[in-house]
Amino acid sequence: MTGWLGSAYLWVKAFHIVFVIFWMAGLFLLPRYLVHHQEALGTPEAAAWEKRETLLRRMILEPSIGIVWLLGLALALNIGLLDGQPGLGWLHAKLLFVLALSGYHGWAIGYSKKLVTGEGAIPSRRLRLLGEVPALAVVFIVVLAVVKPF
Ligand code: HEM
Repeated sequence: MTGWLGSAYLWVKAFHIVFVIFWMAGLFLLPRYLVHHQEALGTPEAAAWEKRETLLRRMILEPSIGIVWLLGLALALNIGLLDGQPGLGWLHAKLLFVLALSGYHGWAIGYSKKLVTGEGAIPSRRLRLLGEVPALAVVFIVVLAVVKPF
């Protein structure tokens, strides 16, 4: 393996994928928590959902998004993202999807905080639909990363 990571490249890639799995697990779970939290507003159960969301954010979502970005950017620099290396169209497209997914992550955490202050106003059905966004994004991101169609 050439590039500044040398023989560590495959190890970095392995842990990139491990933390992608943790991040995705958190992103699949949080929107479901939001639906339950919203439906429990005004009952004693709401505080329990608030606690679950805080734990999920601190233990899974925040550490894993940071590590995925760190290791992903290390891999990207290693394969020449900043050197004008040809054939990296898939990586540029992947970065766009990952940026959008990171924005979604921020939105979901923001909505969880809004529920605590009673400001959440998205109808439950739409909230459930929004919960499918990470699954859709993962399909595009993994196809781009593995198939590298352009
Ligand atoms: C956060 C920003 C990210 C960056 C900068 C990034 C960048 C990269 C790079 C450069 C590779 C190496 C590709 C190769 O060696 O051919 C890679 C591998 C991979 N990434 Fe990411 N990635 C990011 C996030 C993600 C996310 C969110 C997912 C999935 C949802 C993902 C899934 C994968 C997979 C499955 C591979 C292995 C591809 C293979 O070896 O066939 N990455 N990533």
